[in-house]
Amino acid sequence: MRSASIIITIDGPAASGKTSVSRLIAGRHGWAWVSTGAFYRGLAYVALKEHINIQDEVALAKLCVSPIWRVVMAAERTQVFMHGEDVTDTIYSEEIGSAASLVSQFPQVRASLLNAQRLCATGVNALLAEGRDCGTVVFPLAQVKFYLTAGTRDRAERRAREQGANVEEMRQAQVKRDYQDSSRRAAPMQIPSQAHVIDTTSLTLEQVVEQVDDIIRKELAERSLSHL
Ligand code: DC
Repeated sequence: MRSASIIITIDGPAASGKTSVSRLIAGRHGWAWVSTGAFYRGLAYVALKEHINIQDEVALAKLCVSPIWRVVMAAERTQVFMHGEDVTDTIYSEEIGSAASLVSQFPQVRASLLNAQRLCATGVNALLAEGRDCGTVVFPLAQVKFYLTAGTRDRAERRAREQGANVEEMRQAQVKRDYQDSSRRAAPMQIPSQAHVIDTTSLTLEQVVEQVDDIIRKELAERSLSHL
């Protein structure tokens, strides 16, 4: 099957706005979008449920290709199903985020999940993919790349508000996760070359969406892809 003519990537640290921005931009254009974090969150969740040691790289890599769970793209959220049951509501906690960060350190896990992530670009006209290594490893040939960032306090406040959690505890968990994600040896979080870096600290969601969308429209027009 044909791969997407347009691939856009948005990378960045925890709670930098990647998911909200991706959902809105993809919705505007009618594009598919995927939160690649769902693969790592899903794996961590299923491992915990199945009593698989989340430090055991080989067992985790095996679980990556197990038919007991799958990731499904959808307009509102990237979904995770386990034994046919939709478990999406339970994977977006910071607790599962921390476990996801731990399992994502392992090269064998990353290699096992890479193909499934790339398959998201098959059979769709355009794909917006967000995560940590979308512009560097998953889709290095993406036409337009972004890296969103924001101050640690700001990011913690956003997520704590969403989840009704304590801001300082959230800040500490996110700082730890960002450190793990950017210092690991396999596909660390980093700014892809040619990425547009946007600091969202003092911007509203609408302002970020407008900035990102303006850049996308301009870059696609330059490549004569705006008709898609
Ligand atoms: O974006 P998120 O918070 O849902 O991601 C959860 C964890 O998954 C993140 O802390 C590290 C890992 N992850 C990754 O290693 N590579 C990606 N492309 C996306 C997420």
